[in-house]
Order: sequence, then C-alpha cells, then structure tokens
Amino acid sequence: MILVTGGAGYIGSHTCVELLNAGFDITVFDNFCNSNPEALARVERISGRKMGLIEGDCRDHASLVAALKKCKANAVIHFAGLKAVGESVAQPLSYYDNNVVGTLRLLQAMQECDVKTLVFSSSATVYGDPVQLPLTEDHPLAPTNPYGRSKLMVEEILRDLHHSDNTLRISILRYFNPVGAHASGLIGEDPQGIPNNLMPFVAQVAVGRREALSVWGNDYPTPDGTGVRDYIHVVDLAHGHLKALEALEASQSAQVNKSGQCLIVNLGTGLGYSVLDVVQAFEKASGRSIPYRIAPRRPGDIASCYADPKRAFALLDWKAKLGLEEMCASSWHWQCTNPKGYQS
Ligand code: NAD
Ligand code: UFG
Repeated sequence: MILVTGGAGYIGSHTCVELLNAGFDITVFDNFCNSNPEALARVERISGRKMGLIEGDCRDHASLVAALKKCKANAVIHFAGLKAVGESVAQPLSYYDNNVVGTLRLLQAMQECDVKTLVFSSSATVYGDPVQLPLTEDHPLAPTNPYGRSKLMVEEILRDLHHSDNTLRISILRYFNPVGAHASGLIGEDPQGIPNNLMPFVAQVAVGRREALSVWGNDYPTPDGTGVRDYIHVVDLAHGHLKALEALEASQSAQVNKSGQCLIVNLGTGLGYSVLDVVQAFEKASGRSIPYRIAPRRPGDIASCYADPKRAFALLDWKAKLGLEEMCASSWHWQCTNPKGYQS
C-alpha cells in the first residue's frame, strides 16, 4: 500500500492513475488546500479502481501516523506542498511551514511506523540560475526564492536522514516544467485564479477566458529572445514515479544486507523550448490563434533551463516519450472539456 500525500493535486492525480493502472493499492492523504476531491473521483473513473482517501494535513503528526497505520503503508510518495514562486516570496513562512515542517512531520511519522521507502517531489528550481546547461544532478544548488530553498532544505534533511539510517530507500525527483493532461481529458491542471505558469495561461487565452498572453521578455540570450524551458508531459512524469518506486523496491529485494539508497534524479526531456515555440505549438494543436504582447522580464526569471536526463535513464530506465505536440494537444483537450477546471 502506498500513501500518496497531495495525491489530489495536478501531478499527484496523474500519478495515482498510473499507480492504480499498474496494480498498486493507494491511499491519498490531502488537505485539498489547492485541489478538488472531484479529481480523485475522476482518477477512479479512468482507472476503474478504488483508492483510499484520508483528509488531513501534513503538518499534523498524529493524523499522519494514524493514516500510515490505517492503510498499512509500506511506501510514501510525497507531493503535498505549496508551489507558487511569487507567493513564496510574499509568504515565506507559509512555504517553510507547509513544505519543510510538513515533510519533517511526515518523516517522523514514517520513522514511528517503520515505513522506509519515500519518493519526494523536488524541483529543478533547486539549481537556481544555471552555470552550465544541460543541468546535471551535480550542478551547484543555489535556489533564488523561498519555494526553491524549501525544496533544497528538504533534500538536505533527506540526505542527512539517509546518512543516519542507510536502510532507508529514498528517491528525490527534480521535476522540470510539468505540463499537459491525461489523454481522457478528465484530469488536468486546475490553477486557482490567474495562472502563473505559461501553459495554463496559453490554454485560457485559446479558450477565450483571457485576452492575450504577456510574454515576459524577448531580450534573453536565447534563439528568439524568450525564455527557454524543459517542458515535460505530466503523464511521462507520473511514469517516472512508478519507475522510481520500482527501482527502490528492486534495491530492497536485491540487497541481502538491507542497505537502502538515496537517489537524486532529474525528470526532464533534455529539450528546451522557448515561449514562442510553445505559443506556436499550442496554436497548431488548438487551431486557435494566441494573441500575445511582449512585456518586461518577470523578476526572478532565468533565460534557459533544461535537464540532462541521462541519470534517470541509467538508474530508473525512464525516458520521456511525449513531445510538445502531445503536451499542447492534451492541455487543449482538458481545457475544452473543462473550461472552468473541476468546477465545470
Ligand atoms: P498541486 O498544488 O496541484 O498539488 C499539491 C497537493 O498537495 C494539493 O492537492 C494540495 O491540496 C496538497 N497539499 C498542499 N499542502 C498540503 C498539506 N500541508 N497537507 C496535505 N496536503 C497538502 O501541485 P503539483 O503541481 O501537483 O505539485 C506537486 C509537488 O510537485 C509539489 O510538492 C510541488 O512543489 C512539486 N513540483 C511541482 C512543479 C510544477 O510546476 N507543478 C514543479 C516542480 C515541483
Ligand atoms: N511566461 C510568460 N508569460 C506567462 C507565464 C510564463 O512569458 O504568462 C514565461 C516565463 O517567463 C518563462 C516560461 O514562460 O520563460 C515558463 O514560465 P513558467 O511560469 O511556466 O515556469 P517557470 O520555469 O518559471 O517555473 C516552473 C514552476 C516552478 C518550478 C520550475 C521548475 O512554476 O515551480 O518550473 O523548473 F520550480
């Protein structure tokens, strides 16, 4: 049984589908601060399987212990956390509380319940402004905002914890830019208010909810002057979690001395696309035009960021399969069938 914290969220719900499809039994632990229980009903519809649900907060140690015991979890995938960079600058305490204290409570509860396997959602944001590209896992870590620092703090806690108990099996996954939606059109990204991220904003422009996209800067040292990112299809990302879990389980059965591991792996495609590449691909996928205007750079943005994904292939046998076309097509399908997200 796997406890999936934050399983009702964007990446969590897609991962739940793949876990259920692969035959895992799962229980979601979520406080729904940035998600809707409807997502979980749809996960069950897509997979044709049931899962457990415990409504609770990761900062509440007692609820976590009760949840781990109730579902007899032998592994945890930890998605729960806050993720908006700008909000983290305005409300750092809330980010350190949810992301760092929440994870600390979870680790204490896991220790108490003797659960030794963890997959953790980290982010490419821990690298900060790239010194060299593509970003390998041993690139220096220098996040530039409280959100990124909260992820780095957790990574350091996990490394220290593994050092103290090398029977633990931990996978730290550094996601690049997750986009897209499940092919069914039943689950997808459902941002509250005005989207901060490019793909959901573009999708809302295409569907007529917003007038035009602001392109934050066209004077970066990139081929067309706009920011370059490594967009990764959320379904590929979900598969990466299964592969990480399988790799940890394999290490458990293979090693007679019961020694665990602490893997740190990038989940990206290795390809960089500019803002205008995304606009063009989305226009093609949707058959709609995406009006845009060039606006000043967004403070804190970097020019380019893309992964070296070799380690994920070597250690997890994982590689992204879906391209920008599928990312835009699935986002568009989700947007059209659910113009107001889960409220539709
Ligand atoms: P999301 O907001 O859609 O999902 C997070 C889920 O966690 C939500 O269901 C929310 O209700 C829940 N949650 C938050 N705080 C909680 C708490 N204290 N207790 C219980 N539940 C709580 O976000 P997502 O895009 O699915 O991201 C999942 C994880 O991946 C996050 O940790 C995020 O930081 C990380 N990540 C996301 C991105 C991205 O661009 N989406 C990139 C890199 C890393
Ligand atoms: N952009 C625009 N207009 C918009 C939104 C974005 O031009 O309305 C541009 C940005 O300037 C950037 C690119 O589109 O060049 C991507 O921006 P996003 O906001 O979609 O993504 P970021 O790379 O800024 O950050 C995302 C997540 C972070 C995560 C990081 C990991 O928001 O949480 O990816 O690489 F840490």
